[in-house]
Amino acid sequence: MTETWMRLSRPEDMDAIAALNDAAFGGKEEGAITRRLHADHDSLLSLVAHRNEVLVGHVEFFRILIDGQPSAVGLGPMSAAPGVQKQGIGAGLIRMGLIALAGRGESLVFVLGHPDYYPKFGFTAETAAPFSAPWSGPAFMAKEINPGAPTVGTLTYPAAFGG
Ligand SMILES: CC(C)(COP(=O)(O)OP(=O)(O)OC[C@H]1O[C@@H](n2cnc3c(N)ncnc32)[C@H](O)[C@@H]1OP(=O)(O)O)[C@@H](O)C(=O)NCCC(=O)NCCS
Repeated sequence: MTETWMRLSRPEDMDAIAALNDAAFGGKEEGAITRRLHADHDSLLSLVAHRNEVLVGHVEFFRILIDGQPSAVGLGPMSAAPGVQKQGIGAGLIRMGLIALAGRGESLVFVLGHPDYYPKFGFTAETAAPFSAPWSGPAFMAKEINPGAPTVGTLTYPAAFGG
């Protein structure tokens, strides 16, 4: 029987996480970003999914500063293995991550990604638009996960994103 599990990532998962990101994105950039987030201690929450012993999904959440304060979270990179996409693995990782972060008192999560995908989880470009960031447009989205989230400000991303 095939079982899918989700859990916190561990340091020894990093090579498999990088390989998964390389395969899903078809390049080395996202794996390198993930390694750098962990090396710099900028990862807030790192989740993986595996089927039996094979790692098939990954999502990273990291700190974003708003006007210099640690008031928001970023989602990404995230990936599902090419052979098992569109089977709910990505959705499970996102929902588990958002629930955990809301429970920690985080209020706002940003993502830069597929404009057809993240709105399924409540992310909108309208929520992100008032913020000054390295990105803008329909792929730049945000979601409030607790009341009282900031509504405007200047975002600072971790060094892993080239800032
Ligand atoms: C994008 C990605 C992480 C989604 O993970 P996944 O496990 O395949 O997605 P899920 O099965 O959870 O999909 C949930 C829903 O989104 C849809 N969906 C999946 N990928 C999508 C995409 N790229 N664009 C739009 N919708 C998508 C699914 O069909 C499903 O729809 P439904 O709820 O109506 O059935 C995965 O496809 C992936 O790794 N892609 C390559 C790397 C990438 O683009 N990463 C994200 C960068 S922003």
